[in-house]
Amino acid sequence: MKHYFELNEWNIIEKGFNTDNNEISESVFSLGNGYMGQRANFEEDYSGISLKGNYIAGVYYPDKTRVGWWKNGYPEYFAKVLNSTNWIGISIKINDITLDLAKCSVREFERVLNMKEGYLKRRFVVALENGNEIEVNTTRFISMTRSEIGVIKYSIKLLNFSGKLEVSPYLDGNVVNCDSNYDETFWDEISKDVKPYEAYVMLKTKKLDFHICTSMTFELTKNGEVIKPPLVTLDESEKYVANTISVDCDKNDELVIYKYVANTSSRYYEIPELIKITRELSTKAKNDGFEILLKEQAFAWSKKWQESDIVIEGDVSAQQGIRFNIFQLNQTYTGEDYRLNIGPKGFTGEKYGGGTYWDTEAYCIPFYLSTANEKVSKNLLLYRYNQLDKAIENAEKLGFKNGAALYPMVTMNGEECHNEWEITFEEIHRNGAIAYAIYNYVNYTGDKSCLGEFSLEVLIAISRFWAQRATFSTSKNKYVILGVTGPNEYENNVNNNWYTNKIACWTLAYTLKVINYLSENETKRLSELTLKLNFNDDEIINWKNIIKNMYYPRDEALGIFLQQDGYMDKEQILVKDLDKKSIPINQNWSWDRILRSCFIKQADVLQGIYLFEQEYDIATIKRNFDFYEPRTVHESSLSPCIHTILAAKIGDYDKAYNMYLRASRLDLDNYNNDTKDGCHITSMAGTWMAVVHGFGGLRVINNKLILNPFIPDHWCSCSFKIMFRGTLLNIKFTKEALQIQNEHEIPVNLSVYENDYYLNGNDLLEVKLP
Ligand code: BGC
Repeated sequence: MKHYFELNEWNIIEKGFNTDNNEISESVFSLGNGYMGQRANFEEDYSGISLKGNYIAGVYYPDKTRVGWWKNGYPEYFAKVLNSTNWIGISIKINDITLDLAKCSVREFERVLNMKEGYLKRRFVVALENGNEIEVNTTRFISMTRSEIGVIKYSIKLLNFSGKLEVSPYLDGNVVNCDSNYDETFWDEISKDVKPYEAYVMLKTKKLDFHICTSMTFELTKNGEVIKPPLVTLDESEKYVANTISVDCDKNDELVIYKYVANTSSRYYEIPELIKITRELSTKAKNDGFEILLKEQAFAWSKKWQESDIVIEGDVSAQQGIRFNIFQLNQTYTGEDYRLNIGPKGFTGEKYGGGTYWDTEAYCIPFYLSTANEKVSKNLLLYRYNQLDKAIENAEKLGFKNGAALYPMVTMNGEECHNEWEITFEEIHRNGAIAYAIYNYVNYTGDKSCLGEFSLEVLIAISRFWAQRATFSTSKNKYVILGVTGPNEYENNVNNNWYTNKIACWTLAYTLKVINYLSENETKRLSELTLKLNFNDDEIINWKNIIKNMYYPRDEALGIFLQQDGYMDKEQILVKDLDKKSIPINQNWSWDRILRSCFIKQADVLQGIYLFEQEYDIATIKRNFDFYEPRTVHESSLSPCIHTILAAKIGDYDKAYNMYLRASRLDLDNYNNDTKDGCHITSMAGTWMAVVHGFGGLRVINNKLILNPFIPDHWCSCSFKIMFRGTLLNIKFTKEALQIQNEHEIPVNLSVYENDYYLNGNDLLEVKLP
């Protein structure tokens, strides 16, 4: 754990320059707008340790798989979102010496991420090796309103000398992915052009033919006046274009460069149009100017915050943590494009390759359901629907038939690209999360139109998979699911993982329920679908039989669900009794020792209890929580949030708060010592759930909004915004009372601690809390 950011409600502030923290800060100060994003690298040259990264959503590369021992069924490639043209670069020379923070004496340094208005600022004072001192101030943002545009204001002030300043804004496509499997480069140059004050470079991926075009324009001011020195040196080389302008300056002069960049891709424009459009976009940005673009940015973010802010009074650390998470989630995915999804690291790093995981359905959907127009979550459902054919192909490759679908563990276009057998082939519970997301969407929004439109097709295909994957055990006289890995990846090839068996049967039952609903409400559509899918009553009978006769491992004496067959044969040790030096066990123990141990990486049985909470009484939830929590090492960032919610449910408020702390500042405090790889974007959605579902106790049951809030001891108040069925609700609670302000006209029914209320449009409801 490393705590070096200043506490502040709206800003992330780093003071002082510690090169050891640079990669961590590069992740934390990342910028993005759903279409592109980048790590917080410096504009000027930097020869210290840095992971340079600019990423364009959906532009990926099928990098050849690397494995020790090939197994049939492994995917050919591991797709990764590509590091693409470095568009922020501005080289600076001062009296012929290159500005490089690794090579000069840094006197003052400050970086601020302004989350309220969505920009990154940096200020530093340095002395170069020749004694020249300068002050630099930069502001950079990626526009939330113009998806292709990034803007930089870079100011240099001469503090103790007069002399020559050379500024070279450039675009550089000579970039690599640090996680490339064979150290290959992935881009070819297609064309480029460089003129005074303008340049572009167009690249193409070596496979799949994604084209990206990056164009820059810029403007210089000296002491506030626009200058246009006529002498501009043009540089170009393979995938690289630059302008260099030399300006004579006096002591105290301030030179500012405004750089306007457009990044486009062939995902959105026709290739022959790309160059023209990109240049027009950057020119338009320049013509509109920095101040207007910055205002647009602040306005767009104020709108985001109006809909998704969480306010915690009395705990700045918690406030900063939750806002940081909401900020990063909104930077990662905006939901306008149904072909895009949410990588576990968003645009903040390369780990996980930017692919789609079950994280989206299990953790992210609740956040977007409550904080964005329902179209956003619907687009996430459509994303999977559009990949259904590939999921069916994937299942066929593994021997399943008749339209059974196994969605991939990691994907970019629907094809599996994860290649560890225990995950690729065995972590099949992911299929259930995709079905659950459909339920979640319908349950939260009340919008059932997706069921007939496209969701039933997904549900039937997933159910077919479960029906074929379950086998009948004559010795148990029950259906079993063998050879799986549950959410707890610290156990592989287990039989009857309770969570997997549970979500499999739940999917079958939910699919049947949806079929029932459509038979009553959309008969014609249901007939079309059953014909198209060749679906018949025998399947229904079979599914019902599986549901009725599924085996669920239990420990009767303890009164708990067993994570899998044989779990109790393991030596039962608690995390608290582990030698502190062995934690995290994934960095200190051999893999076989982990597999043999009883330690659980992330919520597994408890994940299932969280999803299907309504089926269990409090005593059951408590028994399972009290058993599993002390055995869980939470070495997946996705784990503590689920434990927070269940701890809150059973009234273990201290535990809930402690678990929450672990989740909420995971990256800001570098809790797992891995923030340098990128931020844990998908688990940030879990942190949001911890506040809203955990402390707020929010649920939607039978079309009614339920709130059972409790507030951690030292918080004065907590409030969050949610959208619910056309309303926007501002929900605030203290120890004594709950206030709900309906900010829209539509009334809403709700229940607080089992009392029902009806809240009119634009009204305020106040409830005393027990
Ligand atoms: C977790 C998975 C998760 C993946 C990506 C892994 O460490 O165990 O559940 O899908 O990270 O976030």
